[in-house]
Amino acid sequence: MKKSDFGEDFLWGVTIAAIQNEGASFTKGKGLTIWDTFSKRIGKIKNGDTPSHACDFYHRYKEDLLLAKQLGFKVFRFSIAWSRILPEGQGRINKSGINFYHQVIDECLTLGLTPYITLYHWDLPHDLEKEGGWCSHFLLKWFSRFVTVCAENYGSKVKNWIILNEPMGFTTLGYMLGIHAPGKMGLNNYFPAIHNAALAQAEGGRIIRELVSNANIGTTFSCSEVMPFSDKEQDIKAAARMDLMLNRLFIEPLLGKGLPHVEDFPMLEKMLVHNKTWKYTERLQFDFDYIGIQNYFALTVKHNPLIPYLQASEVKAKTRKVPYTDMGWEINAESCYRMIKRFWDYGNIRKLLVTEGGAFFKDKLINGTVDDAQRIQYFQEYLEAVLKAKREGVNVGGYFAWTLTDNFEWSEGYQATFGLIHVDFSTQQRTIKNSGYWWRQFLKS
Ligand code: GAL
Repeated sequence: MKKSDFGEDFLWGVTIAAIQNEGASFTKGKGLTIWDTFSKRIGKIKNGDTPSHACDFYHRYKEDLLLAKQLGFKVFRFSIAWSRILPEGQGRINKSGINFYHQVIDECLTLGLTPYITLYHWDLPHDLEKEGGWCSHFLLKWFSRFVTVCAENYGSKVKNWIILNEPMGFTTLGYMLGIHAPGKMGLNNYFPAIHNAALAQAEGGRIIRELVSNANIGTTFSCSEVMPFSDKEQDIKAAARMDLMLNRLFIEPLLGKGLPHVEDFPMLEKMLVHNKTWKYTERLQFDFDYIGIQNYFALTVKHNPLIPYLQASEVKAKTRKVPYTDMGWEINAESCYRMIKRFWDYGNIRKLLVTEGGAFFKDKLINGTVDDAQRIQYFQEYLEAVLKAKREGVNVGGYFAWTLTDNFEWSEGYQATFGLIHVDFSTQQRTIKNSGYWWRQFLKS
């Protein structure tokens, strides 16, 4: 497999996110985010880590962008920290925050890296969370203002936009299971949060379309093939429920198909009663130029009456003796291929981009080298899967690696390293891993 097999126009990118990379959490007027407060709660983040320093992209963006360029990438995807430009989430604008992203964008353009801006990568301003966050009726108003400020400030320079990063991820982990910020739990938080996220993804698209000429607008979805543990009916139904929640809940309303449905899933009825406007499908729709998909693992699921609502639970890769990463996530490139095909088969998506893909393996820096052969193999297998889908006619137009440097991996803290570049967090020294060198070679091929 060579880069040229993917064709001339295929986009090769690398992705970071504000709260995971920037650090400088309290610098030049930045407001608190839900991750600053959540990470202070005992036991929420491994080793008590907080995102306050991260890998200091805020001060080292020139070095990091140069590294991205040197590895051969052409696209740089990053997110805007809402509270850096609007410290309270609404109201006054922080000029120095606005300037920071101008500098990042200008540096990208100088280096010949095409910027892709993610508007929301999970770092809600803390002050908005105090008012209800993603559960609030005002969320759409706050989000619209944030999107407008970004479009007005950066729209003349940046044409590629991503409205949300993985709505399933931040709503389920943050507003249902309580394991991500802001740590809320239960259906009373979850239902309004998913509904507001579904509205925000479409509304954000409309705002960018209106304010940015020639914009190329997308949004991203996590996706995981869900397989039943056995061919028992109960397991098959459990897998269908999990599949609906993980893969269908946000994309189908967006594509005009309304709220998805499977049999024997009483929670769906509750969801409909709670969020009556699921029925008003127009506001949930937007004709995106591309859809970003992010596939990190496949799931095997069995019926489990002890799990509320879903009545389904994962049978871990480890216990099934199939390959997995150090996150415990099943490695299964063939299932990534099938998810790409499945999204494409919806029929009304113009283009797909793989807007993230990557893996955590424990790295060892020895004599200036990180020999991360497993990560290289991971990328090779997953790129083969993308190529296979492309050869079968799927319009998949790019692959963005997650991630440039080791960074703050949410509730896993700093020990879960996904970077192509190793970071010593005590000195902020960067060392290109062998996977980074592999990408450099591949992107020349
Ligand atoms: C994604 C998320 C990224 C990154 C990655 C690896 O779901 O968008 O921010 O953390 O997972 O776990």
